Amino acid sequence: MNNREIARGVYAVGAIDWERQLFDALIPLPDGTTYNAYLVRGSEKTALIDTVDPSMAEVLLSYLDGVERVDYVISQHAEQDHSGSIPILLEKYPGATLVTTPKGKSMLVDLMPIPEERIRAVDDGDSLSLGDRTLRFIHFPWVHWPETMLTYLPEEKLLFPCDLFGSHLASDELFAVDEARTLRAAKRYYAEIMMPLRGAIARSLPKLDGVEIAIIAPSHGPVYGRPALIQDAYRHWVAAEPTNAAALAYVSMHGSTQSMITYFGDALASKGIDTEVFDLSASDIGELAAALVDAPTLVMGTPTVLGGPHPYAMLGAYLVNALRPPVRYVSAIVSYGWGGKTVEKLTEVLSGLKVDLLDPVVCQGAPGEADFQALDALAVTILEKHKELKLL
Ligand code: FEO
Repeated sequence: MNNREIARGVYAVGAIDWERQLFDALIPLPDGTTYNAYLVRGSEKTALIDTVDPSMAEVLLSYLDGVERVDYVISQHAEQDHSGSIPILLEKYPGATLVTTPKGKSMLVDLMPIPEERIRAVDDGDSLSLGDRTLRFIHFPWVHWPETMLTYLPEEKLLFPCDLFGSHLASDELFAVDEARTLRAAKRYYAEIMMPLRGAIARSLPKLDGVEIAIIAPSHGPVYGRPALIQDAYRHWVAAEPTNAAALAYVSMHGSTQSMITYFGDALASKGIDTEVFDLSASDIGELAAALVDAPTLVMGTPTVLGGPHPYAMLGAYLVNALRPPVRYVSAIVSYGWGGKTVEKLTEVLSGLKVDLLDPVVCQGAPGEADFQALDALAVTILEKHKELKLL
């Protein structure tokens, strides 16, 4: 296992899932993912931090071949991609104690066959000695489940932050060598998993102030040998500092909506606003989510189908609403043939966002001169809003 050592006596024993294409049967994984687990050897005790998705338990077991004793299995998070193999590990190591938060204890018992008497619940700030090394537990509730905790190994200045700081990025390199690629994946991961809970992250992040961190070993994606890379990015993302950007998410059936979106994107770009366009019938929703980490403006485009928005527009709006991006301005570009309540229904789905709703552009049939003028006017309105935010 020497080539898996990320710090003295700490080994990466998780699995790379190159083939997985969806998470939660919803979120596309264009780069696959990893389920990271770490073996920490102390002079007296050995601990395993997290396990792997049960579909890849064999990989974890193969790394543990020859490891005769595991004294503690640390469950930082009850979600099955990390905890799903715990029953297998407890069976392999009958002397091992499962260590988790009090909330984690009740959730793990609910989720899988784990005898309660094998579990030790630890409080925020508790430590566990492995002999010459120590595991300190830091509760981080709602990042992203209520039971989550982080683990700190002070002797190596090593933080195991569970899902926090993670990325869905399959790579056979243990460390984040390609920082730009890792950061792109981490931003997308943040958008999909952490963004709705950024308030909880902001409340808990100060717990890491003053903690010396030389390595961050998350539960998904590469290990950070330069922690500032991801820590600085999270500070920026959680603060929801807007950039001079707009996201245009649309679907079109016969070209009317698409031609308006294309025209409108050009109008925004001509005013110096960075514009990203997503065709909801073909785009990866994770890319839209990532764009909304910084973009203060979202414009949704849809034709009218059976009296309302196209179903892909409804799905996109529903997801955006659920992800709670820090968007400030929302508008719609809508086409219709003979009637409908498309704007009303779209607005209703987005009602969870605290935004300024800008007047939509609604066009009957193919767009004409008046419609293009309305699009120009909407672009001017957005320009003024961005100026108010001092983005240009
Ligand atoms: Fe990677 Fe929330 O599980």
